[in-house]
Amino acid sequence: MKSAALSNETVDTKAKYNRNARWYDLFEFITEVLVYGYWRKELFKMMKGDKFLEIGVGTGKNLRYYSTDAHATAIDFSEGMLLYAKRRAAKMGQNVTLKNMDVQNLQFGANSFPNILATFVFCSVPDPVRGMKEVRRVCISNGRFVLLEHVRPKNTWLGKLFDRLNPIVVKRTGVNINRYTAENIRKAGFEIELERNLLGNVFKLFVARPVKLTRNMEDKESQKNG
Ligand SMILES: C[S@@+](CC[C@H](N)C(=O)[O-])C[C@H]1O[C@@H](n2cnc3c(N)ncnc32)[C@H](O)[C@@H]1O
Repeated sequence: MKSAALSNETVDTKAKYNRNARWYDLFEFITEVLVYGYWRKELFKMMKGDKFLEIGVGTGKNLRYYSTDAHATAIDFSEGMLLYAKRRAAKMGQNVTLKNMDVQNLQFGANSFPNILATFVFCSVPDPVRGMKEVRRVCISNGRFVLLEHVRPKNTWLGKLFDRLNPIVVKRTGVNINRYTAENIRKAGFEIELERNLLGNVFKLFVARPVKLTRNMEDKESQKNG
């Protein structure tokens, strides 16, 4: 599999995560204790079996929720974040293969994983639909894609406020606060089996399944992928 040249936006987002990596856990400490930890446990209840791929592992906050007999592979495009994930895995004795990789160009073959998870990742991926299409490609046909994400609020004025604030937040952190994630999941070729509101209609747990591709759709996909 060829590794593609990174877009300017990808290079920029990656640099932001590399820069912020050492503060990341400290910055998120309170939300982690109050809500994220609980939501992560809920997400892991949705996983079937022990073989999975984690996208955007970050500093490895999900590692403590992996089962002891997990066959886990986890990727991130930020070497800064991965450094902390590697340290955490070693400290915990957690068996996980950590790789530096961009979700927009996954270096795995088609149909490689039965479960794929991502927590608070697709808000930062420069081209989320492209990234999710890659997830779709490497996910087995009856597999699952489970996500925790924050999305653009449905409420009109709050949605507009998030649109206004988004460029400032992106500039500082690389995170988008106004993504239409449910729509993006569908555009990438999944059907949403569960969309659970965790906090208002902004923080959500999604469980998605690959839509079965017709022969015609498969041909179009393979033409696009060269
Ligand atoms: C907000 S952090 C979340 C980290 C972790 N999943 C968690 O729950 O704490 C987003 C992570 O996604 C990674 N990321 C963003 N875009 C990515 C991409 N295109 N490919 C791989 N990783 C990406 C970032 O480097 C960062 O570690």
